Amino acid sequence: MPTRDTSAEVGTPDVQTGEKSIATIATLRVGVKLYVYHDNSREHRLAEILSIQTRKGTPHYYVHYEEFNKRLDEWVPPTRLDLTKETVGDVGTPEDEEADEDSAETDPKATAARAASAKQSGTSGTPETFSKEHEIEKLRTSGSMTQSAHEISRVRNLSKLQIGKYEVEPWYFSPYPVEYTEEEMVFICEFCLSYFGEERRFQRHRTKCTLMHPPGNEIYRDSAVSFFEIDGRRQRTWCRNLCLLSKCFLDHKTLYYDVDPFLFYIMTTRDEYGCHMIGYFSKEKESAEGYNVACILTLPQYQRHGYGKLLIAFSYELSKREGKLGSPEKPLSDLGLLGYRAYWQDTIVDLLLNNKGLETTIDELASMSAMTTQDVIHTLQNLNMLRYFKGQHVICLTDAILSQKQKQVEKQKIKGKRTLDPELIQWKPPVFTAANRTWNW
Ligand code: ACO
Ligand code: ZN
Repeated sequence: MPTRDTSAEVGTPDVQTGEKSIATIATLRVGVKLYVYHDNSREHRLAEILSIQTRKGTPHYYVHYEEFNKRLDEWVPPTRLDLTKETVGDVGTPEDEEADEDSAETDPKATAARAASAKQSGTSGTPETFSKEHEIEKLRTSGSMTQSAHEISRVRNLSKLQIGKYEVEPWYFSPYPVEYTEEEMVFICEFCLSYFGEERRFQRHRTKCTLMHPPGNEIYRDSAVSFFEIDGRRQRTWCRNLCLLSKCFLDHKTLYYDVDPFLFYIMTTRDEYGCHMIGYFSKEKESAEGYNVACILTLPQYQRHGYGKLLIAFSYELSKREGKLGSPEKPLSDLGLLGYRAYWQDTIVDLLLNNKGLETTIDELASMSAMTTQDVIHTLQNLNMLRYFKGQHVICLTDAILSQKQKQVEKQKIKGKRTLDPELIQWKPPVFTAANRTWNW
């Protein structure tokens, strides 16, 4: 709902949020929506300005493209803006311009305006005074930062990470200490996950750091990968560093500063230098909702190589050993949903094919896969495999599914298929006392 902004601090009392007008560079503000040229798709897309920064005398705009994932948010120069079309939102007057000159990373006036309008529409309790440092500290230490309404967490704060031999661009905000946001590159020790803004300090650390694998027990090893199990309570710093790193690629999820109630399962590749992290999933020591995964991540440099499916497969193997059905914590991200759907489909189709046409029930599919009956039903419905026949549900493999499967098999013949050998998992469900699950003051 557009709300009328009556904040005295905002110099445009007669402009309503949501109103259309023609903007000029001088009147652009945080919150304004306009068409911005998107390089990859080579088209103009409607975008919202989230932050404005003056670099070498020229304003730059951090924009979010409407209806696209936040991963695509980016800084653009004025040349990418289309000012010929109508804009939507709070367009200022040219006199306001002066106050912007101090190259504030986030326009505090706009934040105040947002706070005021959020309060009026009763959406969230945005703080009245805004301090970036204070905000970041709160995000670092106060647990949940899910879908934070705060301005600061909407803007990606790190430019580049070096992890082992890879350089990676973060996708989202992560509450690293504020001084790191000024660095062109943040150096992450790929083994202990400590972070450094200065290359010299990082190199000095590397000569001293003796860790060569995640600090836990190796519970799986095959010719390609190893899995390590890590207790958040025993390896607090390491796990917090992992959460900080993974927040760079997870937008919608809670970052738990309190890592004690979680176990972390880290997948690595091995070479003569050590075990390099590919990805991980975290899991609550005890989940009231029956979740078998809290957060799951394949580092970007390893994505789309089948590792996500391997991580998911591992999480279900653990559930099988616990004698439980499990499901990932909701909400899933866009990529999380794609990854899980692909895994669920593969698993169910394989089970049906291995069953050689014999009749199976939803409950049997669930108990064989450790998937919840709800996930089995949704998968079958999505694939149009659940038919109602003579008053009963019948599961049937459709021609479309079979030909899709055929194509996948062909592709895997060429590319190879990553699989998990459950026999190689050396793991028993750990037992925790209440004191072991959380902070132990
Ligand atoms: N576009 C389309 N389909 C995709 C994409 C993509 N970018 N990524 C994965 N998929 C689908 C495909 O069907 C793919 O199979 P295919 O490559 O044979 O077509 C399937 O998912 C599995 O792909 P993998 O290579 O096994 O998965 P990957 O290693 O890339 O990891 C993951 C998937 C973990 C979701 C990864 O994208 C990621 O880390 N994303 C960022 C963090 C995130 O969003 N995590 C999930 C949050 S939800 C939660 O934590 C419970
Ligand atoms: Zn280190």
